[in-house]
Amino acid sequence: MTSPVDPTQTRAWNELLELGDGFSPDLRAWFDEDPARAERLSFSLADLHVDLSKNLVTDEILAALVHLAEETGVAERFAAMVAGEHINTTEDRAVLHTALRNPAGTALTVDGQDIDADVQEVLGRIDEFAARVRSGEWTGVTGKRVTHVVNIGIGGSDLGPVMVYEALKNYADAGIEARFISNIDPTDLAQKTADLDPETTLFIVASKTFTTLETLTNARLARTWLWERLGLTDEDARKDAVSKHFIALSTALDKVADFGIDPANAFGFWDWVGGRYSVDSAIGTSLAIALGPEVFRELLAGFHAVDEHVRRTPLAQNVPVLMGLLNVWYTNFLGAQSHAVLPYAQQLHRFPAYLQQLTMESNGKSVRWDGTPVTTDTGEVFWGEPGTNGQHAFYQLIHQGTRLIPADFIAFVNPAYPLEDGGRDVHGLFLANFLAQTKALAFGKTAEEVEAEGTTGALVAARTFEGNRPTTSIFAPSLTPSVLGQLIALYEHITFTQGTIWGINSFDQWGVELGKQLALQIAPAIEGDESAVAAQDASTRALLAYYAAHRA
Ligand code: F6P
Repeated sequence: MTSPVDPTQTRAWNELLELGDGFSPDLRAWFDEDPARAERLSFSLADLHVDLSKNLVTDEILAALVHLAEETGVAERFAAMVAGEHINTTEDRAVLHTALRNPAGTALTVDGQDIDADVQEVLGRIDEFAARVRSGEWTGVTGKRVTHVVNIGIGGSDLGPVMVYEALKNYADAGIEARFISNIDPTDLAQKTADLDPETTLFIVASKTFTTLETLTNARLARTWLWERLGLTDEDARKDAVSKHFIALSTALDKVADFGIDPANAFGFWDWVGGRYSVDSAIGTSLAIALGPEVFRELLAGFHAVDEHVRRTPLAQNVPVLMGLLNVWYTNFLGAQSHAVLPYAQQLHRFPAYLQQLTMESNGKSVRWDGTPVTTDTGEVFWGEPGTNGQHAFYQLIHQGTRLIPADFIAFVNPAYPLEDGGRDVHGLFLANFLAQTKALAFGKTAEEVEAEGTTGALVAARTFEGNRPTTSIFAPSLTPSVLGQLIALYEHITFTQGTIWGINSFDQWGVELGKQLALQIAPAIEGDESAVAAQDASTRALLAYYAAHRA
């Protein structure tokens, strides 16, 4: 294990501290004085056009940030990751999500495992299974074709598939709808199965570990639902129904069999795929079924195009690295605590939620990969909603609040659904909003400009916009499967860059364990076990008493 470099002890960090001291950005002046700024700071990344020019950086700052990436070994750690070194030190695992989207035939042997052969074998089985379901060759126990696939999973076994399905469901062409049940709140399952026909429903139990309380509880509830709705009481008939209506996606194939799912209907992946990096593994099977295996393959190709960019591009032009560095600049030198992601595409309405797990479960850490404390702030809060909805909700704070909130805007030239309103292209109007917002945030509106419009007195200050609110614009021709894969991989590698600079292991998630353990300890108290109640702290006991008093 290579020890992490302490970023705060690098030359670049000190240079950045000096550059940040008394830093007074002026995007208006920077653009006026430098007509080439927009062009110089715009980059191509596969099909993505990424404009970094409205960020609060000078060339000098960017150069120092690139030096920081050099001094902390970002490129070297990326090379170690894709080669299969065990960079996930706390779990002693390789981190190889990039191998899931390597083209067939990419030689890679790690820990004695022929990675390419294994990945291609599972992909081939997913293709074949998806084709059988889509064609109607695969049927439920009563011989009816599948009309609904219901993915039961949580975290990385849910957020990726649901986000991609929402983004690309205009590609669904086989008459199969996908649904996603994640929450152990029984409302989720009750509502999402209410109108389903058991004869035409295929449940996909998605769980890397196949131990997750929420997923296994929901899977059992779904199995009971199926048996009850089909009126099955006989053991063999029940078994038969499970074999036709349940498949599993997991690294723990033994546990899948214990649940009663036929191992022939299980699609595996490996411990070197982190949950939040797994949408491109077997975890994406619901997508291959509902959207088609070709769409899934195109998605993977998009991921790979960005992996190749990161692998081959010098740091100073490497887009995910530059975006990660900008985030470090805002977090560690300008005091930003959150980062907004604002897709101008309704189809990406689940993208910010997906990114929350990717970024915050990865980089929300206080110790480094050698167990020592971090030496600087880590992990911003990622959040967002699609435009233009957000404009009418929280943009006020981004425009005129006291906090610095760097924001990524994501937009597409061509709409999935071109519609006109009185001869006017509605998508054009939508895009005008994207451009207007990034412009307003960057350049603001001075008091003189406000006064020139006839405003006077106290209202002038209220209507003034400071500007210098940083944004990155990510523009692509259309939201295709490949472009979506590119976007996801972009953020994976931004997250990686930040984690490496901070010296943290972005691939474990010990911070979710304590709550899971305590929930199991508290469950008996909820069920009325007095000694379990007595073992709780005073606040928890009081909440349990409220629960007991109000239970219907
Ligand atoms: O609780 C966190 C977590 O472990 C995530 O990292 C993971 O994506 C999720 O739970 C689901 O885990 P599994 O796929 O093993 O059910």
